[in-house]
Amino acid sequence: MDELKFPESFAWGAATAAYQIEGGWDTDGKGLNVWDTFTHQGGDRVLKNHTGDVACGSYTLWEEDLKCIKQLGLTHYRFSLSWSRLLPDGTTGFINQKGVEYYNKLIDSLLAMNVTPLVTLYHFDMPQALEDQGGWSSEKTADVFEQYAKFCFSTFGDRVKLWITVNEPAMVAKLGYEQAIFAPGKKETGFGAYRSAHNMIKAHAKAWHMYNTFFKEKQKGLVSIALDSDWAEPLDPNSDGDKEACDRYQQFRLNWFANPIFIDGDYPAVMKSEISRNSKEEGLMTSRLPEFTDEEKKIIKGTADFFCLNYYTSRNVRPLSTKPSGPSYNSDTGAEGIKDPNWPEAGVEWLAVVPWGLRKLLAYIKNTFGDPDIYITENGFAQSDPPVLQDVQRWGYFEETLTEVLKAIKQDGVKLKGYFVWSLLDNFEWNSGYNVRFGLFHVDFNQPNLPRTPYYSAIEYAKVVKENGLISK
Ligand code: BGC
Repeated sequence: MDELKFPESFAWGAATAAYQIEGGWDTDGKGLNVWDTFTHQGGDRVLKNHTGDVACGSYTLWEEDLKCIKQLGLTHYRFSLSWSRLLPDGTTGFINQKGVEYYNKLIDSLLAMNVTPLVTLYHFDMPQALEDQGGWSSEKTADVFEQYAKFCFSTFGDRVKLWITVNEPAMVAKLGYEQAIFAPGKKETGFGAYRSAHNMIKAHAKAWHMYNTFFKEKQKGLVSIALDSDWAEPLDPNSDGDKEACDRYQQFRLNWFANPIFIDGDYPAVMKSEISRNSKEEGLMTSRLPEFTDEEKKIIKGTADFFCLNYYTSRNVRPLSTKPSGPSYNSDTGAEGIKDPNWPEAGVEWLAVVPWGLRKLLAYIKNTFGDPDIYITENGFAQSDPPVLQDVQRWGYFEETLTEVLKAIKQDGVKLKGYFVWSLLDNFEWNSGYNVRFGLFHVDFNQPNLPRTPYYSAIEYAKVVKENGLISK
């Protein structure tokens, strides 16, 4: 059944991130990172005060993870490097050889199994020593990140050919530096998100240039950044107000990063005008949105070799019903996303299941950002605790999603190169701790050896991977 097949050499993957799976938080010379600090502060920052101290134990149980990957028959595996495991204080002043050995073993074993690694340099876990000097609030961190990237390219780049610099900068900026929901727990409303995003964009661009200038010719790899986005529809398609709000919702999230990196080195026009107008009204002399110089715009433009999209859900959008008092990212956006009550929820309140939203978003990316090669670097559905191993309904969501993905490729001509399930394993789901389970494999966190057991979804996903296509019914 050819119409159910994916293109040849399509990348089938699953994804994880260091802090969410590794554990070994203080083992073998690893330095502290912001999530170690944040979770150890307790105070219900995370549900039940769970921490990533042990997580899935992948620092020692990585061979168990490889077995899961093998069982799925994946062609690709996406994981992240723990910055402070490699460079305990974040700088190349001291290199933790044990950390290097750990990732060398993992990368070599993946390649021996014919699995291509897709490696993220930074997935939310800033070394605490750098955070103490401002973290992403400081421009200097972009330079330190460039050196970290150089170190990773020179250490692992002989074998790693697909790189992601930063995972979901919008989440880090908003939740980490504006709303104090994520580590490092900073609350600099109206400023923090924009400032940290500005520095992450610079950091990304520096790392891309570092690769392009010094490594690309020899190593022949590709570098990108992973951007998260909902699909957004105007709540009332006939309302101009809803249409404008919907556009702002999109521009302030995906295009905030994709516009500078894929289009012109600068922020979307509507972000610049809204934030500047609000800043003026607040009596400020300059906009709360920092500006890139012309030189910086040139450096930032075109710094991605492919497009990495993390997609989970969609929203219907209308203007904010009540404007928050005081300046903030939310009041600048002036839009609110609403879930359609008919959309099912998957394991966690924010995750409304909207497979067709992904198809629309892929077409939007194709048409807006120059028809790039795209990888869906995360997509998934959760179960709340306690989960069922026979997660038949959840697999149904995956099937519906893959059907839409196939339409995007075949009917819309999207150059989609791969799809990664979030996640390989149940893991530390940030503020939700271990209560929200995204894994293809169940992890029993109550047993010391943290056994992995495939869900029904894993068994079915393995069939799709093997067929390189959906299974006809
Ligand atoms: C993140 C993952 C996270 C997942 C589910 C993404 O925002 O990159 O780390 O676990 O979503 O919430």
